[in-house]
Amino acid sequence: MSKYIIHGGKRLEGELHIDASKNAVLPIIAATILSGNTTYLYNCPRIVDVETMVDILKQLGCKIKWDNKTLIIDTSTIQSYDISEQLVRKMRSSIILLGAIIGKFGKAKISYPGGCPLGARPIDLHLSAFKKMGITVTEEHGFIICESSHLRGAKINLDFPSVGATENIMLAATLAAGDTIIYNTAREPEIVDLQNYLNACGAKISGAGTETIYIQGVKRLHSVSYKVIPDRIIAGTYLVAAAITRGTVTLKDVYPSHLRAITSKLEEAGCTIVEDVNQITLISPKELKGVNITTEPYPGYPTDMQSQMMALLCTCNEMSIIKENLFEARFKAAYELIRMGANISVEGRIAIIKPTAFLMGTTVYAEDLRGGAALVLAGLAARGTTVVEDIEHIKRGYQDIALDLRSIGASIQERE
Ligand code: EPZ
Repeated sequence: MSKYIIHGGKRLEGELHIDASKNAVLPIIAATILSGNTTYLYNCPRIVDVETMVDILKQLGCKIKWDNKTLIIDTSTIQSYDISEQLVRKMRSSIILLGAIIGKFGKAKISYPGGCPLGARPIDLHLSAFKKMGITVTEEHGFIICESSHLRGAKINLDFPSVGATENIMLAATLAAGDTIIYNTAREPEIVDLQNYLNACGAKISGAGTETIYIQGVKRLHSVSYKVIPDRIIAGTYLVAAAITRGTVTLKDVYPSHLRAITSKLEEAGCTIVEDVNQITLISPKELKGVNITTEPYPGYPTDMQSQMMALLCTCNEMSIIKENLFEARFKAAYELIRMGANISVEGRIAIIKPTAFLMGTTVYAEDLRGGAALVLAGLAARGTTVVEDIEHIKRGYQDIALDLRSIGASIQERE
């Protein structure tokens, strides 16, 4: 497995362009199945999860090619509704293909996605919503088989504002007969981007970004060219990279409103944030204060930025408390940070971070995507050399974090 070698202590300074959002691109790639046409997706990141989604659609019979950062997806040749078990295991979020494939074929088969390093990752909200739409769901031998002779709109109230369940229902409802209303939906910007993509193709969806989404079923969709929103989590990660090295960074092509919960916590810690229409500059002072973080669904503080902020809080001069409400096993990075000299105690969903004189470089192991990114950030601030192993986890969501960080002054190299 590859690794990153990081020589810490360099103050980062410079500008970075932010790629399209992984968590917007993935449901939109699933949505291209509904049009049965050709979609041009601009500014797409060549990250592992996008490549996995491309492989799944190719296995289903679609024709897909890259033209630099434009993904050209022709789904007119799709002929299978049976999603590869081996690829689902590689990326559990492929579950959002279910809604699109059912919408297209009236049937779908997928292996149960199972858990991941973050926890159990149940899909009960997805399946109970499908049943309300006239879809029969059978679960046998580790597979989920969905069938519907007459996919119909429904009123659905989500017990929890699940991102994936909201997306799956939107995808299944777009071509269904009649109207669908989803209550208590996820409000993430990626949901709004999915709505905007589908409407650009001729769908009739409104309300994304609020707690209620309305979908009027339509007969067909047409092809479209579309530019996906920037990745707010990559942007937040690079703001923390500047803060943890007490440096300065300007991020281009971002939407400051998408990062409000993140930038307000960085300001609370003592950073200066300067916003323009589609750029953010962070200037960090020498000393940072502790802050308390509670992860919540959007617009609350994002769970996908929890580990990265934990790394930063290890370098602050006051105690901080993190409460992780979304995933039961999202503190794995804490145990590796402790090996770097961090003073963290974990009790269930609470982590208490106390000041420490400094972080010391050592060999640490990435166990999940954002936890791995947090270890890279810690290495930027640590004394000496930090080796981050198992960086394949990180490549699922960052095309080349080492290249990006080197461009603003970090000493970080990838090694086999
Ligand atoms: C999406 O995952 C993101 N992934 C995650 O980002 C992100 O952490 C998460 O939303 C929360 O914001 C993608 O968009 C590809 P959820 P998803 O359904 O859809 C419970 C990253 O690092 N739940 O909103 O799986 C679940 O257990 C990844 O980029 C049910 O109980 O998240 C969890 O506690 C990691 N039943 C909570 O909801 C269900 O049927 C949030 O899950 C579904 C979810």
